[in-house]
Amino acid sequence: MSAPAYLRDAPESLALIPKSASSLAPQWNTLFLTLLAISVFIVLLIGSLILYFSIRYRAGATVERGGKISERRVLLIETGWTLATLAVFVCLFIWSAPLYLRIYEDPPKPAMIITAVGKQWMWKLQHPDGVREINELHVPVGQPIEVRIGSQDVIHSFFIPAFRVKRDAVPGRFQSLWFKATRPGVYALFCAEYCGTDHSLMRGRIIAMQAADYARWLAQQDVPASLAAQGADLFRAYGCSGCHMGNSAVHAPSLAGLYGRIVALADGRQVLADENYIRDSILLPYKDVVAGYQPLMPEFKNRVSQGDVDKLIAYIKSLTQANSPREAPSP
Ligand code: CUA
Repeated sequence: MSAPAYLRDAPESLALIPKSASSLAPQWNTLFLTLLAISVFIVLLIGSLILYFSIRYRAGATVERGGKISERRVLLIETGWTLATLAVFVCLFIWSAPLYLRIYEDPPKPAMIITAVGKQWMWKLQHPDGVREINELHVPVGQPIEVRIGSQDVIHSFFIPAFRVKRDAVPGRFQSLWFKATRPGVYALFCAEYCGTDHSLMRGRIIAMQAADYARWLAQQDVPASLAAQGADLFRAYGCSGCHMGNSAVHAPSLAGLYGRIVALADGRQVLADENYIRDSILLPYKDVVAGYQPLMPEFKNRVSQGDVDKLIAYIKSLTQANSPREAPSP
């Protein structure tokens, strides 16, 4: 199959004003251009006043220099410009805070979840059904995509200028961003955080396709087992099943229905079993010991890669009460 014509454009480089290709871009552009206009206005105002005064009051010019200004007027001027500046900042805050929260806190549900791992010096990306890509991400337009970002080594930053989204990939935690591509095309993906020798080469392409083209593309890919199925294999390979199966001799908390539940810990705290909690419980099991259990589990901190953690989490998330590890096929 030849690629659709809209994908034949060369990927853009870092343009002064990048293309606008996501649902967030129009609002982002308006806000950015307004901030730019205000800044330009202030720079011109201050700059021209400096220029005007330095010519008018230059050494040797015959002008009145000893003018008196009343204290009341000084107070009025000071209060005036302080309040005006404050008002402008408050307006900008009221305008931009909801947009910020929309970008970073509130992905529309249901979104298609893409797992991204930054490592020196590449982006590894995985689709929900297991299709993997490196430095390239194919997405359908018109569909909200949530990218869950982790890092295997140092801090990277996942940046798609055309979609106006950027989020750091931080070792030791998951962060996410979301976008909805609105125009098919090929867009640049950058690492926007200096991360070592080949930081500048850590770039990729986002290929936004019409839904039908995306479906066709996806159907042509080799599908390894789904993330959760790969996680199930690792669950046995790392020996997790030895203790976390319902019929095991060692007493370990059941993982069925764990994801999204509130867990009571031995030290009295209550935590939400989200992705970060599950990750920490695998890598640093002594951090959050579940109430009623002994801290017996070995640390997996330097033994499990970020990619494997993603798979294990996908597997644990798939374990509902009805589908507990007890039912998992034995090796
Ligand atoms: Cu990764 Cu810069």
